[in-house]
Amino acid sequence: MTTFEPAGPNAERLDGLFWMVFWIATVVFVLVIGAIIVMLFVFRDRGENDAEEPKQTHGHTRLEVAWTVIPALILAAISVPTVSAVFELTGCDADSMKVEVIGHQWWFEYHYPAQGIDTANVMVIPAGQEICAVMTSDDVLHNFWIPALHGKRYMVPGQVTLLRLESYEPGEFWGQCAEFCGLSHSLMRARVLAMEPSDFEAWVADQQKPAALPVEGMPEYDGYQVFTNKGCIQCHTVRFDDDSASNIIQREDFNGPDLTHFASRSVFAGASLPEEGESYDAALKKWLADPPNVKPGSFMPNLALTEQEIDDLIVWLGSNK
Ligand code: CUA
Repeated sequence: MTTFEPAGPNAERLDGLFWMVFWIATVVFVLVIGAIIVMLFVFRDRGENDAEEPKQTHGHTRLEVAWTVIPALILAAISVPTVSAVFELTGCDADSMKVEVIGHQWWFEYHYPAQGIDTANVMVIPAGQEICAVMTSDDVLHNFWIPALHGKRYMVPGQVTLLRLESYEPGEFWGQCAEFCGLSHSLMRARVLAMEPSDFEAWVADQQKPAALPVEGMPEYDGYQVFTNKGCIQCHTVRFDDDSASNIIQREDFNGPDLTHFASRSVFAGASLPEEGESYDAALKKWLADPPNVKPGSFMPNLALTEQEIDDLIVWLGSNK
């Protein structure tokens, strides 16, 4: 999560601006502090022997004009590349691939309109290609920030903001909501997974597939029963391959992550789990047992599931690859 290791052209441009301003400021700093140090020595109080007072100056038009004009010129010079970067990095190229990014308390939803994919927490993109994040919020102000790929940009309820994202190489980049948005703001995290374009195509094809509807006798069946009978289905969408399962929730009612391909994502709970060094299953168990205890304020309630029900759910969720 550092801005000093840009992994794409947009972050690199911001990094370049930072270093330009840094070095100009460093030169100004050295000159000003150097002048102060010189004056401290040259005009220091030499005790009683130093009878002569330095020449006192009141008002010096040429000097005052100079120290006003020089900083103004420096700021004007800095503003040229800065303002042009602000304008160029704010929009997207018209032909770039769109991914709608929707902020929720406390997780990021990613909707791929052209591909018909809905996913959460991990945004998958092809490397070496500009992606246009078309962003909004479902509830309060959020701010989408992937330091290695771009600066911060607000997600505003009822408005759309754009953020161009591009990664030079395949890789995984961490992100974080950068605007205080309630109790679990700090746990509202994000991942961007950049893949080779061919791998991305394969990922798209996988994500477009529906989930298998478990039938009695299958090891996933009990977990699927927990999902439908214990209330999970009120918030979470799963697209099953069998339309007769009347459990496809319409997007209007959608308010939890789509779980059709839950197990294809390396992280869950707003990309805050599993924690460093924690096993995936142990984290999932902890999460399902008491979500608001793991993510304070979580809208996913404690459903008082038994240990058996949690184990069954994990088996079924694990099959949704
Ligand atoms: Cu969303 Cu902070």
